[in-house]
Amino acid sequence: MTRLRGSHVLITGAASGIGRLMAQEARVRGARLTLLDRDEAGLKSVLAELGGDTAVYTVDLSDRGATQAAAAAILKARGTVDVLINNAGIVTGKSILECSDEAIERTFQVNALALFWMTRAFLPAMIAQGRGHVVTVASAAGLSGTSRLTDYCSSKFAAVGFDESLRLELKRLGHPVRTTVVCPYYIDTGMFHGVRTRFPWLLPILKPDYVTWKILDAVERNRRRLIMPRFVLAVLMVKALPPALFDAVTAFFGVNRSMDEFKGRQG
Ligand SMILES: NC(=O)c1ccc[n+]([C@@H]2O[C@H](COP(=O)([O-])OP(=O)(O)OC[C@H]3O[C@@H](n4cnc5c(N)ncnc54)[C@H](O)[C@@H]3O)[C@@H](O)[C@H]2O)c1
Repeated sequence: MTRLRGSHVLITGAASGIGRLMAQEARVRGARLTLLDRDEAGLKSVLAELGGDTAVYTVDLSDRGATQAAAAAILKARGTVDVLINNAGIVTGKSILECSDEAIERTFQVNALALFWMTRAFLPAMIAQGRGHVVTVASAAGLSGTSRLTDYCSSKFAAVGFDESLRLELKRLGHPVRTTVVCPYYIDTGMFHGVRTRFPWLLPILKPDYVTWKILDAVERNRRRLIMPRFVLAVLMVKALPPALFDAVTAFFGVNRSMDEFKGRQG
């Protein structure tokens, strides 16, 4: 069991969405919190809300140097992190030809490369203390491709591969550090505002509170993988079949048109 009570929990992307909700819920469960985001105003409001032993750091995770400097400052000021929740993420929602080169690079920097900079910074101390937990908030988009998400899906596929390889490597080396990968379908946080689902009873747009609770529960129960809703697993099984069949299934369930009305975060 990874207990949150008394643990030092670091959450990236904690100024809004499920990052913010996870901070609130982890506090309820008795964690000490260090929160990171590029949104300074958002972090200040979370800090005012949570108070207690909470520290916030404004950092742009697409900047490797700034991320590594912030991580070093956190280790010095706050000590070893017990649970690292790599949650920050971005989406363009554009087709491959509409995306700018810079936006594609940024998507990979935040959704994939920052996982390396954060994990490499905090893992040695976890190994030294003989316990720790690294959580990767990926996406169902890290398991199945979709139109208008080539940049996002490929960065989240990288995130899923990152978690899987890290888990196997930790096991191979005998380090007692746990991992959890989180792959939710769409969540109603505003990040994917406008997306549609054809069969909401099978593939619902998830409630942020529910996702938050499930993630922290998965961490406390040492679950290696959390896929929400379970129906996503059924879609994945079709992947073992020829691609034409997989394409037909994702088309039938409306997944490949889910981004047609995408607007993204407003304001
Ligand atoms: N919303 C969904 O439908 C959905 C579905 C599956 C997975 N996810 C994933 O869940 C995670 C949280 O998403 P959310 O829905 O809460 O979105 P959100 O937009 O509410 O939260 C993302 C947070 O990350 C921060 N962030 C973005 N770029 C950053 C950067 N360069 N440096 C530091 N912080 C940065 C933002 O400021 C924001 O506070 C993301 O990784 C996302 O990809 C979301």
